[in-house]
Amino acid sequence: MAAGKTKVRAPKPLVAGNWKMNGLRGAKKEINALAKKLNKLDRLPCDVLICPPTPTLALLVETAKGSKVRIGGQDCHPQVSGAHTGDVSAEMLKDVGAKYVIVGHSERRADHEETNALVAQKAAAGHRAGLISIVCVGETEAERDAGKTLSVITAQLKGSLGDTFDPKNTVIAYEPVWAIGTGRTPTTAEVGQVHTHIRKRLVARYGEQGNGYRVLYGGSVKPANAEELMAAPNVNGALVGGASLTAEDFYGIISAYL
Ligand code: 13P
Repeated sequence: MAAGKTKVRAPKPLVAGNWKMNGLRGAKKEINALAKKLNKLDRLPCDVLICPPTPTLALLVETAKGSKVRIGGQDCHPQVSGAHTGDVSAEMLKDVGAKYVIVGHSERRADHEETNALVAQKAAAGHRAGLISIVCVGETEAERDAGKTLSVITAQLKGSLGDTFDPKNTVIAYEPVWAIGTGRTPTTAEVGQVHTHIRKRLVARYGEQGNGYRVLYGGSVKPANAEELMAAPNVNGALVGGASLTAEDFYGIISAYL
């Protein structure tokens, strides 16, 4: 190691569940079941997070209290408060006990025309409130077919991350749009190629600190493929949709690290 450089340790993995628009108050039984399973472990080698819809978030924070399960939001508005009907601020998420917020999910980029610049503002809002922002990037199938995957990811990272971001306040999630909810996944080699590219871009921008960021893979992660996907180079966890809705499946994915 060159003099003056601080060594950055490999980041602790994060296994995160994105419940999307699923789950009523009764879903707290899944949090209870998950907490119980995790409680039996002497040591949990990864962080565990569930991001439920906003109406159940406060309830699930209470349900998860004292357990190893953290709760986060799925989106936030860039501003603290104001006339923004239907929106939720990062401060509101923090106020009810959220620890993380997902920003720039491809479904929000597509459904709400969110730009990289807006995603960067939302991530910064998460930081302002004391949350860890999970910034999502990923190519569409057409972009992959056109051989544009790495250039698309480069542009999304450039536009969606800010200069003040660091590995403590930000997590990156790579989610190929064509793998979300489809049961299709890239090969381990393809995942490794994109994650290694993301790592290089992070190091190019943030120096040695770039090695400290957690880079999650998301898109059809299931108990059956989690171990293989999590073993790809520069993968530091998962962002899970459908298979995070039941404690049993989600624990099956966490098991990749046990
Ligand atoms: P699936 O795991 O259902 O494919 O969803 C992935 C995702 O979009 C998580 O944010």
